[in-house]
Amino acid sequence: MNGSRVLGTGSALPRRVVTNAELAEQVDTSDEWIVARTGIRQRHIASPDETTATLATAAARAALADAGVEASSIGLIVLATATPDNTFPATATKVQTALGCNGGIAFDVAAVCSGFLYALSVADSMLKTGMAQRALVIGAETFSRILDWEDRTTCVLFGDGAGAVVLEAPGAGSDEKNAPGILGSKLHADGACHDLLYVDGGPSTTQTVGHVRMKGPEVFRHAVVNLAAVLREVLEDTGISVDQVDWVVPHQANARILDATARKLGISRDKVVVTVDRHANTSAASVPLALDVARKDGRIKTGDLVMLEAMGGGFTWGASLIRM
Ligand code: UT7
Repeated sequence: MNGSRVLGTGSALPRRVVTNAELAEQVDTSDEWIVARTGIRQRHIASPDETTATLATAAARAALADAGVEASSIGLIVLATATPDNTFPATATKVQTALGCNGGIAFDVAAVCSGFLYALSVADSMLKTGMAQRALVIGAETFSRILDWEDRTTCVLFGDGAGAVVLEAPGAGSDEKNAPGILGSKLHADGACHDLLYVDGGPSTTQTVGHVRMKGPEVFRHAVVNLAAVLREVLEDTGISVDQVDWVVPHQANARILDATARKLGISRDKVVVTVDRHANTSAASVPLALDVARKDGRIKTGDLVMLEAMGGGFTWGASLIRM
């Protein structure tokens, strides 16, 4: 039996666009370096009135409209973020009350850039066991608030945004061949890699929010190896060959990681959805944002086999294969 079905997708970006040239006025970098090493040309940066909760709520509203369902039918909200509005309560509860669907389940998931993959898997499991009938799964971030704007090795890489999907529990017909739904998911974590990508603050240690710290080249190497391995695991588990996959929607950290992973698996570059040039790395928001972009521009269609994948701080990584 297939897992939960995607009924709709939505996304939201802050109003303000910041180009590489603008960043080059603040730190010792250049448009040429950023484009050549990452593929990033611009990013959206939240203004003071835009927060993780407001972006998440806008993405959720867009996903509900796309699915054609009322917020009142949502019994579960799982929100992936590393940049919550408050240390507590969960940002998911702010989204719930903004949407006016109070009373169901709402909580945040912390798995940084793989957060959306973790959230999707958790929501799918909960829907399959009957804890709710419909869910909103959201990835939303304001990474600009935890960047060290004097550190050129990190501040040029990230952006803000949110993406959301409406998921429905598998129903009648979900065991039929080519039925829509999540076909399989795999998640991993390796806490030994903590120091390669982390934030140097937190309530229980420094009582500050802290800033992103990353050993970029080492993260790069782990990302290609781990992503290729987890994609193979999902393909093996689901009995789907790499040629059958219509689209890969990867975490958008670096165009070179997308290329290297696709090469390793023998996936054509034309099947890989790329938004890193416009959005930069939006952490947990990047996969649902890219998924929404490719659905709305007509590339991803009903019936397509879509592979989602991500890797981030922890390390955490994972992949999900979905029949749309
Ligand atoms: O989302 C979670 C997962 N995150 C990732 O997957 C990120 C993975 N890592 C990467 O994407 C890449 O490693 C980076 C984009 C972060 C860096 O690219 P790189 O090709 O690995 O460059 P590097 O760190 O080896 O730096 C090369 C040079 C260094 O100068 P020297 O030592 O060769 O003189 C850096 O100091 O580039 C310098 N550099 C910069 N120059 C201009 C580093 N950042 C910048 C910058 N502008 N912004």
